[in-house]
Amino acid sequence: MQSPYAVFVTRLGGPEVLEPRAIPMPTAQADQLVLEHTAIGVNFVDIYLRAGQPHSHNSEPPFVPGINAVGRVIEVGRDVEGFQIGDRVTYTNAGVGSYATHVALPAERAVKVPAALSDVRVAAGLVRALTAQYLLKQMRPLKPGDMVLIHAAAGGVGQILVQWAKRLGLRVVATVGSDIKASTARELGADFVINYSTHNFVDEVKRITQGEGVSVVYDSVGRDTFMGSLACLEPKGLVVNFGTASGQVEGFALQELHAKSLWVCRPTLRSYIAKRSDLLAMCEEVFELLADPTLRLDIEATLPLHEAAQAHRLLEGRTTRGAIVLTPAAHSAE
Ligand SMILES: NC(=O)c1ccc[n+]([C@@H]2O[C@H](COP(=O)([O-])OP(=O)(O)OC[C@H]3O[C@@H](n4cnc5c(N)ncnc54)[C@H](OP(=O)(O)O)[C@@H]3O)[C@@H](O)[C@H]2O)c1
Repeated sequence: MQSPYAVFVTRLGGPEVLEPRAIPMPTAQADQLVLEHTAIGVNFVDIYLRAGQPHSHNSEPPFVPGINAVGRVIEVGRDVEGFQIGDRVTYTNAGVGSYATHVALPAERAVKVPAALSDVRVAAGLVRALTAQYLLKQMRPLKPGDMVLIHAAAGGVGQILVQWAKRLGLRVVATVGSDIKASTARELGADFVINYSTHNFVDEVKRITQGEGVSVVYDSVGRDTFMGSLACLEPKGLVVNFGTASGQVEGFALQELHAKSLWVCRPTLRSYIAKRSDLLAMCEEVFELLADPTLRLDIEATLPLHEAAQAHRLLEGRTTRGAIVLTPAAHSAE
């Protein structure tokens, strides 16, 4: 077994603040499992927390970032039922930093991974597919033919959102930041694709919808797109600002919603999976989706855990399509 280490955010700042450090081997309290990780998800929220963007669960450095991973159970707490040593499990939002070779986590947050799914696909897709699930199925009833706008459509969440929206019969307008990402969005099935680095997406949406607007905008970009997203809506339409990759939305006046009776929501996956029964039901649906080989989720890179800083550079540099996964390869962290 390799020596345990974790990647710490040593102070708030850029990717250079991420540092591998040796940690003691975790041990299980009565209600916990200890996992040896095999694949660790890299999610945009890891960047917000590393940089100190105000969030619902900021931590003071030094802390271990990361919200999801896959691993094998190596110790079971004495009060835990339903898990045994050797089980392959995943988790998210379990109150532990996942950029580590080993973690002790509440068994309450652990979910067994079906045999059909690889560790890397689950690490890449779990949080993203759970997010797409609540965005498409739990926020607003949508029917085949409804038109939605999905920003950053070639990214990790975006890839799943576009494909799932198409499976639900929705018409999809996708925005992306480069021509190569535009090709990806088209391959994923988007009906209309806009490169918002070179085109005004509000004008394009007006043209595509002949001035009618779309029913819902799924906006994970935030500051740079939010006001434009509102302008793309049909009357009574909804903007879901579920991410802030370009920065947080500030100075927004509620009155902006009045003329067209618009809706805005700023949700988090944490609320939708807080209850174990909801977590399990959503995971069951999402595992089925991820097990479908026709569901595309590009793995842009698989990097060793101790190179987490490089993963962050790639993700926040807008160069990635799909997801990045860290694998806890042996590393001597002092
Ligand atoms: N609220 C929730 O429950 C929840 C859960 C999971 C994820 N999220 C959010 O979902 C989004 C996608 O997450 P992900 O991990 O899969 O990341 P991602 O989409 O793979 O990467 C973020 C993308 O945002 C776009 N972007 C636009 N402006 C940017 C800027 N100034 N800097 C960096 N990127 C910018 C880029 O795509 P283009 O180049 O195409 O613009 C970039 O590739 C994030 O905003 C994340 O916070 C929210």
